[in-house]
Amino acid sequence: MRVSENVSLRPYNTFGIDAIARYFASFHSREQLETLLLDPKWATMPRIILGGGSNILLTKDFDGIVLKNEIKGIKSVREDDAFVYVQAGAGENWHQFVQDCIAKGLGGLENLSLIPGNVGASPMQNIGAYGVEIKDTFESLEAFHLQDREIHLFDRDACEFGYRESVFKHRYKEQFAILHVTFRLSKHPAFNTSYGAIEQELERMGVKELSIRAISQAVINIRSSKLPNPAEIGNAGSFFKNPEVTAETYASLKLAFPNIVAYPLPNGHFKLAAGWLIEQAGWKGYRDGDAGVHERQALVLVNYGRAEGEQIVELSWKIVDSVKEKFGVALEREVNIV
Ligand code: FAD
Ligand code: EPU
Repeated sequence: MRVSENVSLRPYNTFGIDAIARYFASFHSREQLETLLLDPKWATMPRIILGGGSNILLTKDFDGIVLKNEIKGIKSVREDDAFVYVQAGAGENWHQFVQDCIAKGLGGLENLSLIPGNVGASPMQNIGAYGVEIKDTFESLEAFHLQDREIHLFDRDACEFGYRESVFKHRYKEQFAILHVTFRLSKHPAFNTSYGAIEQELERMGVKELSIRAISQAVINIRSSKLPNPAEIGNAGSFFKNPEVTAETYASLKLAFPNIVAYPLPNGHFKLAAGWLIEQAGWKGYRDGDAGVHERQALVLVNYGRAEGEQIVELSWKIVDSVKEKFGVALEREVNIV
């Protein structure tokens, strides 16, 4: 396994930040990762496991080793009357994996089409879009503990999934390399078109007979029309989470701001559309140097070219402050700061 020195991470993060990694290596198997970590030089150094780099913001050079997970392979591991259990290597591209499942007629992931990044990071924040989260089809994952060098198996409960949350973002932060993820996919898909925009897009597409392929295409169309393509403008998707507030807070906000966008939650609370809050605070389309707020989606912070990670972070703090001041609501970051 080759370890390179002083590697620019610009091609490895969708924000397009030009930070330097002191050391950089790709691993294609658990054995390669284990061999590397048996060498005390690498075992004691700060490290980060990297997937597609679509949910990180690099704020400085990384004085340690970046380990890019390139474990590949997709296979069915089990089957019953209703489901096929499909395991994918952490280094598989997420969207290609979703398309592969759709091509096999297996349902459950189609609403999550076109999310950037790799399979291994999908449980990190329980990725979600258009009414579906991976916890809905997640079966288990296999992770390598970077200290005890043992394989640990996690079922759905053990992952403690929440909205853009899992145990890997908190209690087990930076302790594991996720190697493989298994999903329970449906042979007889139940279509989820609960998200309004999907129904509208299916109608616009003239779809007569609903299918997982049609839903996937509708999601692709919607996403392509709203979200900036990282190949053109640097970004990491939603920079903040949509904040949850109590029914009382929501009621008083609604009184003061009758057009506020919110969704009721099963626990009686409300989820506010952070994009709306940020837009109303006047930030949509804002640009300072190469750091900015996307002109079509205020929840997405962008790098127009040569912005530094710190500039994006500073902009994010200004947004947090002004949303707090105008609405009394605290925004929480979704993106991982490195
Ligand atoms: P990375 O950015 O490489 O890593 C993210 C974090 O996970 C880091 O802390 C990293 O250390 C850790 N990590 C990565 N791989 C592993 C591994 N194998 N083992 C252990 N730790 C690991 N997210 C959504 O949920 N829904 C969306 O709709 C969505 N839309 C997006 C749209 C755009 C345009 C962009 C740029 C991003 C979007 N995202 C969305 C965010 C992002 O795509 C997801 O969070 C994705 O899962 C990140 O995958 P990645 O491989 O790029 O992770
Ligand atoms: N809105 C505005 N102004 C904006 C943006 C949004 O007013 O600039 C309002 C609109 O009323 C819109 C509503 O907010 O109807 C919701 O916007 P959108 O449908 O674009 O979704 P979102 O809440 O901004 C969330 C996820 C996305 C996911 C989409 C679709 C979070 C933090 N973000 O965005 O996930 O793709 O829903 O399900 O939950 C990500 O996590 O990186 C991500 C992109």
